[in-house]
Amino acid sequence: MRKNTAYEGALGDYFAESATDGPYNAHTDRPAMLALAGDVTGLRVLDVGCGAGHYIAELRARGAAEVVGVEGSATLLGHAGDRVGRDAAVTLHHHDLEEPLDFLPDGSFDLAVVALVHHHLEDRTQLLVELRRVLRPGGILLLSTVHPTADWVWNGGSYFDENRIEVRFGESGFTNSYRRMTMQTFLGELLGAGFALERLVEPRAEESARHVDESRYLKTLRTPFFVAVRMRKD
Ligand SMILES: C[S@@+](CC[C@H](N)C(=O)[O-])C[C@H]1O[C@@H](n2cnc3c(N)ncnc32)[C@H](O)[C@@H]1O
Repeated sequence: MRKNTAYEGALGDYFAESATDGPYNAHTDRPAMLALAGDVTGLRVLDVGCGAGHYIAELRARGAAEVVGVEGSATLLGHAGDRVGRDAAVTLHHHDLEEPLDFLPDGSFDLAVVALVHHHLEDRTQLLVELRRVLRPGGILLLSTVHPTADWVWNGGSYFDENRIEVRFGESGFTNSYRRMTMQTFLGELLGAGFALERLVEPRAEESARHVDESRYLKTLRTPFFVAVRMRKD
């Protein structure tokens, strides 16, 4: 079943704001993923589910030659456009990631970034096949998602439940849905799509998050929130 999981309207605006300096996106996921990326100088990068363009701005600041952002929310694409300004090395596409990336040529990227998007999708295998197609041989896929243990701690039931859950965004009142999956499913799908695992990290918030929100910072030191992997297309 296909679902509209893109963050539109007021939810998009809320996410754009909270991803700028929030403890989880700005101080936990993003630093971990950018560390996994290593030196991006001169690389052609695809940012899948680019949201408000926070990764795009970081990647360009770190020397990426070109960044293509793909995003299903018109609201967030607007924020991404505002964030990157008139940067000719950035292209943005409005696209539902449940559908093939037909507008992108084979073997055209050195690096693909999929930050906290994967769990929203139903047809993840389709996306992984497409990411393998658009990456060059030896290209790198960086992917982060909600940690399966975090889902179990927050939602209870069996660790092995793979149901779709409705989640609240902090105290904002906004909700969206995503699919729980076990570590075996998460990694199994990536390996099954033909990627080789280079590194896996379970990031904790950086010390900088303490000044933004101490209780959430401390939470990330006790409970795994995200898992991030660096995979290679051989
Ligand atoms: C948690 S946000 C992460 C955004 C960005 N990667 C970041 O880390 O700042 C999830 C993103 O996935 C996008 N998304 C969810 N489902 C989508 C779909 N079916 N097609 C395209 N984008 C989708 C949302 O609109 C949102 O931008």
